[in-house]
Amino acid sequence: MAPALLEVDGLTKRFGGFTALNGVSLDVTPGERFGLIGPNGSGKTTLINCVSGARRPGARGDRRPGAAGPRAVTPPMAPALLEVDGLTKRFGGFTALNGVSLDVTPGERFGLIGPNGSGKTTLINCVSGALPADGGRIRFEGHDITAVPAHRRTRLGIVRSFQIPKPFTSMTVAQNLAIPLEYAAGARSDGADVAAEAMEILRTIGLESKAHTRPAGLTQIEMRKLELARAMAAKPKLLISDEAMAGLSSAEIDDILAILFRLNERGITIIMIEHIMRAVMRFSERIVVLDAGERIAEGTPDAIVRNPVVEKAYLGE
Ligand SMILES: Nc1ncnc2c1ncn2[C@@H]1O[C@H](COP(=O)(O)OP(=O)(O)O)[C@@H](O)[C@H]1O
Ligand SMILES: [Mg+2]
Repeated sequence: MAPALLEVDGLTKRFGGFTALNGVSLDVTPGERFGLIGPNGSGKTTLINCVSGARRPGARGDRRPGAAGPRAVTPPMAPALLEVDGLTKRFGGFTALNGVSLDVTPGERFGLIGPNGSGKTTLINCVSGALPADGGRIRFEGHDITAVPAHRRTRLGIVRSFQIPKPFTSMTVAQNLAIPLEYAAGARSDGADVAAEAMEILRTIGLESKAHTRPAGLTQIEMRKLELARAMAAKPKLLISDEAMAGLSSAEIDDILAILFRLNERGITIIMIEHIMRAVMRFSERIVVLDAGERIAEGTPDAIVRNPVVEKAYLGE
């Protein structure tokens, strides 16, 4: 056997829950004229995209050790939107985050899970700039933002939505969007544009009928939607949703999930932190698990559910 020029070994590629390539292997010898055929949609172009580096093999981030996966094809890394590199955060003598690294690619739906107190919110506080990091670097679109103040990170496109909504109670729902909209637009502000944009966001979120209501007149789910609408008004590239579904009914969770899927389809990268496993497993393309301030696992929802290390971390809860 002449050594192969190209070896594709167990190549798998998923798009969301759909498996476009399922462990495909082939090799092409030097000088060979090689044909690749198959019906429409059989995965030919996807395979070529993985070979050329246009796509990352595996479901994104499916790089757990021992996973059956491509060996001959070097995973071409899409440049990360967010890179967290060795992040450490201490509160007095207590280490809440101990050298945590993760990266989020543009357009990704990324889940961050872990038992209570594992450091999820602390990590997000460091990414948003609410808390200074004690060690490590944070990069956004390739720029080091570790020392950039929180308000400037918002302008760069890092926006979080809080578990406990904090709207301005004396303003209507639409007026609540005006402030982040004007802020996102910079010093320039045009009243007519802002009002139209606010209505457009409320339509996307399904809250247009409440545009002229004050927050006090909203139900719990409507308050969560207002919180998402306000986050949208800040024009996020990266939207971080920290337990936005706590306390909601199953139907309401589906409602919020549908909105988040829609925002993601419009190109917004989303980090979902969620205790409701059903929601985070359905939503995420890739999940990182924290436990006691350490990163203990990364993988697809399927891999995470089957990971004994993750199961053990949650057993104490
Ligand atoms: N501002 C703070 N001061 C002191 N300890 C904190 C502070 N914020 C979080 N912690 C501690 O850090 C750990 C991680 O908390 P947190 O990030 O909120 O966890 P999670 O969001 O995963 O539930 C917990 O032990 C918590 O008590
Ligand atoms: Mg938290």
